[in-house]
Amino acid sequence: MSALVEARGLAVGYGAAPVLGDVDFALEAGERVGVLGPNGGGKTTLFRALLGELRPLAGELTVAGRCGTVPQTERSRLDFPVSALDVALMGTIAGRPWWRRPGRAERRTARAALGRVGLEQLAERTFGELSGGQRQRVLVARALVQEARIVLLDEPFTGLDAASAERLEALLDELASEGRGILIATHDVDQARAWDRVLCLNRRQIAFGPPAETLTREVLAATYGGAIVTLPAEDGREALALLPPHHCDHEHSA
Ligand SMILES: Nc1ncnc2c1ncn2[C@@H]1O[C@H](COP(=O)(O)OP(=O)(O)O)[C@@H](O)[C@H]1O
Ligand SMILES: [Mg+2]
Repeated sequence: MSALVEARGLAVGYGAAPVLGDVDFALEAGERVGVLGPNGGGKTTLFRALLGELRPLAGELTVAGRCGTVPQTERSRLDFPVSALDVALMGTIAGRPWWRRPGRAERRTARAALGRVGLEQLAERTFGELSGGQRQRVLVARALVQEARIVLLDEPFTGLDAASAERLEALLDELASEGRGILIATHDVDQARAWDRVLCLNRRQIAFGPPAETLTREVLAATYGGAIVTLPAEDGREALALLPPHHCDHEHSA
């Protein structure tokens, strides 16, 4: 089986100098890959390269399938008067000329996708009025409408309560079991342990592989630098923990 995404010696950046380099990994159909790294580590930059928004400065990047994206939440975008159905319908734009309004078939497809993510009842609700978890699921519905084989989620669990997070996680498992490839940028190392592989980034690729053998102390220290602390555990062994990222989170600085 050939990979949905393959990066070989990839470097990406916004000017001549790369902000992310040495990227070597593959995403296979049916896999959930956790993308780990500190703020500024290059997670969003990698996603932008996969979406074709940034061209490789070095190396090779092959993307063999349509990418759907669930972007990092930006509060400033939440006051547009669009409904959940409108957002799901945006997934049909690539399939029709820009001057044609979505027709009945497209609306049916978008409603079915909202049904799959458990939001059929909220189709007419204003997007900005939905909870964080519901908004993430609307964006997953948009990716389904796009028939995306590759789904990129940029820190989708940030700010979700436990029940919403569980629901979103189950949905991602389902998408993977259908043969899609899922990349999930996250701050939660423990959550990523349940996925198929992890890709650790800190301005360059630190490691890539199955979580159990990849998430060693050395790899976590290189990935998170000073933000990593050691906690004494009850059984005498020590546990690693990450300091919460919010003191330098650009999301909250606006
Ligand atoms: N539009 C941009 N122009 C220039 N530099 C950027 C831009 N977006 C991000 N960067 C820089 O690229 C680096 C990686 O950022 P980013 O990919 O957003 O990290 P992450 O998503 O892991 O927090 C950071 O140093 C950041 O300042
Ligand atoms: Mg980011």
